[in-house]
Amino acid sequence: MVARGKGILAADESSGTIKKRFDAINVESTEDNRRDYRETLFRTREAMENSISGVILFDETIRQKAKDGTPLVKLIQDAGSIPGIKVDKGAKDLAGAPGEKVTEGLDGLRERLAEYYELGARFAKWRAVIDIAGNDIPSGYCIATNVHALARYAALCQEANIVPIVEPEVLMDGDHDIDRCYDVTEYTLKSLFDELYAQDVALEGTILKPNMVISGKKCPTQASTAEIAEKTVKCFRETVPAALPGIVFLSGGQSDEEATANLNAMNAGHADELPWALSFSYGRALQAAPQKAWAGKAENEPAAQAAFAHRAKMNSLATLGEWSSDLEKAG
Ligand code: 13P
Repeated sequence: MVARGKGILAADESSGTIKKRFDAINVESTEDNRRDYRETLFRTREAMENSISGVILFDETIRQKAKDGTPLVKLIQDAGSIPGIKVDKGAKDLAGAPGEKVTEGLDGLRERLAEYYELGARFAKWRAVIDIAGNDIPSGYCIATNVHALARYAALCQEANIVPIVEPEVLMDGDHDIDRCYDVTEYTLKSLFDELYAQDVALEGTILKPNMVISGKKCPTQASTAEIAEKTVKCFRETVPAALPGIVFLSGGQSDEEATANLNAMNAGHADELPWALSFSYGRALQAAPQKAWAGKAENEPAAQAAFAHRAKMNSLATLGEWSSDLEKAG
């Protein structure tokens, strides 16, 4: 999952989220359209073979067949990539905590994991959402309940021989500065690793999917790439044990190029001294360009594949610290 030069494609948008993405390109979110779009991505051999180690799928997609009848899971495996599955059931209102969420999906998870393993999944994802865009949030209660659920999920995955990706996302929404994001991310990660330890989760078989330490989207002073890279790496050094093999970032609403530049700066500055691989597990920052190019039309599939291959290559270079903005123009 964190092989050199590779990262993860997050293509596990829930039905509601993929509808939002398709609305933006004027495409109706039908089962066939979702299949055609995702099939187009998974058939992009250049990206899949060279830059994508694994693909996170939604429940519908792991069961779907390509137009020619080949299971989509097989397309991923044939390209040398690993199928994964989102198993959480979404972030719901946290009781007694206005504005905060807790992720659900633990009931029946053992049985669902066994089925997903049979369907080909070898890793899973669970996303917890920590909103910090308010004066009194996040509460300790919100973080404690979310990391407890993340650890319960991770232990169940390992029992099922599935690698858990643990994703505690501190949102970029709001006008907070980068230091506020640092403090909450640090507290969240410390709490998460305490809970993983308490629940006997093997860190050697766990991947972390965090936010970068970054300014809120509405913050009047936006931190530079260099500051984001420095503070993110510092925060992880303080909180993430060396036994963990890899950290794969979410893009979280950064622009395509920002997500790439920030990852590149972390790897260019530090890669040799860090105990874990630093790579990507991007949804929007890998798919915004191919979605726009595709726009729901079969004749645009080659253009969508070229756009996906380009973003995958740029992010692959960023995992090696070898990306530069000139390469964007060349693509
Ligand atoms: P973004 O990269 O669009 O934030 O999505 C990644 C993801 O899988 C969130 O759970």
